[in-house]
Amino acid sequence: MNSKLTLIAATLAVVSVVLALNPLYLLKLFGNGVAPISGSHDLLHTAQLIQVPGALGPESLAFDPNGGGPYTGVADGRILKWDQNDRRWTDFAVTSSQRKECIRPFAPELEHVCGRPLGLKFDTETGDLYIADAYLGLQVVGPAGGLASQVVREVEGQPLRFTNDMDIDEHKDVIYFTDSSTVFHRRQFMSSILNGDRTGRLLKYNKSNKEVTVLLRGLAFANGVALSKDHSFVLVAETTTCRILRLWLHGPNAGNTDTFAELPGFPDNIRRNSKGEFWVALHAKRGFFAKWFVSNRLVGKSLLKLPLDFKQLHSLLVGGKAHATAIKLSERGEILEVLEDCEGKNMRFISEVEEKDGKLWIGSVLMPFLGIYEL
Ligand SMILES: *[C@@H]1O[C@H](CO)[C@@H](O)[C@H](O)[C@H]1NC(C)=O
Repeated sequence: MNSKLTLIAATLAVVSVVLALNPLYLLKLFGNGVAPISGSHDLLHTAQLIQVPGALGPESLAFDPNGGGPYTGVADGRILKWDQNDRRWTDFAVTSSQRKECIRPFAPELEHVCGRPLGLKFDTETGDLYIADAYLGLQVVGPAGGLASQVVREVEGQPLRFTNDMDIDEHKDVIYFTDSSTVFHRRQFMSSILNGDRTGRLLKYNKSNKEVTVLLRGLAFANGVALSKDHSFVLVAETTTCRILRLWLHGPNAGNTDTFAELPGFPDNIRRNSKGEFWVALHAKRGFFAKWFVSNRLVGKSLLKLPLDFKQLHSLLVGGKAHATAIKLSERGEILEVLEDCEGKNMRFISEVEEKDGKLWIGSVLMPFLGIYEL
């Protein structure tokens, strides 16, 4: 045990020196260790791009019940609507009334003031748009848009710190949603991953009695949420462990949780298509270094203590090179299709894949555009 610790300490010391000099040198020296995914098609660079002028990070995408949109939340806190005929964006909604300072496309230090809308979903019966705002909790806005109102702000007496995504069961008046951590905010997402934080939750909001129930706790960065087509189970992405978990809601397994899929990278949102299959967007594939940092808390924590800025840390975590990976899973969790932009020519750090009418609409948490890929 002691010799193992000494070895880790010595390795860390060497790695620290190299990293402090130039962290990306490690990647140059050893390669990024990101293995190609077998059967993957390197085609996503052909996606048509729709710029989001003056904005960044269209994370989640949603079409209204009439097929209008998509609507998307961007980093300055606005929710925008795309007009497919006029081919332009209009302001649709906001989650915060305190928007005087919210004028820069990317200002993480202001996210708690301006709001940061992540997951978006329309209630197809009412036309209301539900919003999982990373800082302001679960909100809702009517079909005319404007200032959204609060649905869930706190759970078990504590304000939500990092609300992330949701899905809606309209027949049961229930919303399933995640908070990624009770400790870290969205702007600290790398700290959450590298610290091995396990305070993420899957929650249920009942619209009729306004009650919130914790369905799962102890999750390592709870992220995307999707109900199965028959609503017999709900999926939740556990980003840090690169897994999709399945919680059975009905049937003989009701109440049980199992692993639905193990993925070659860090899953963000999950969206079901009309056939009942699921598209999962990977923020990045998991390379050798990411595996090491994430599976070894000591290494991950030490990395956070080094004088690295956001870009350097992020670059190490994602294997040094921007890329995009979208994975289609069957209703049973088998990988059916992998689409990539391996070189990150156009698509990078994708956050959601929404299939509609033979096209994939692709959001990204860091890019100033979304992509449309023709299937
Ligand atoms: C929601 O609350 C109502 C009223 O208390 C209850 O009848 C219903 O069973 C609840 N639904 C779920 C899915 O928990």
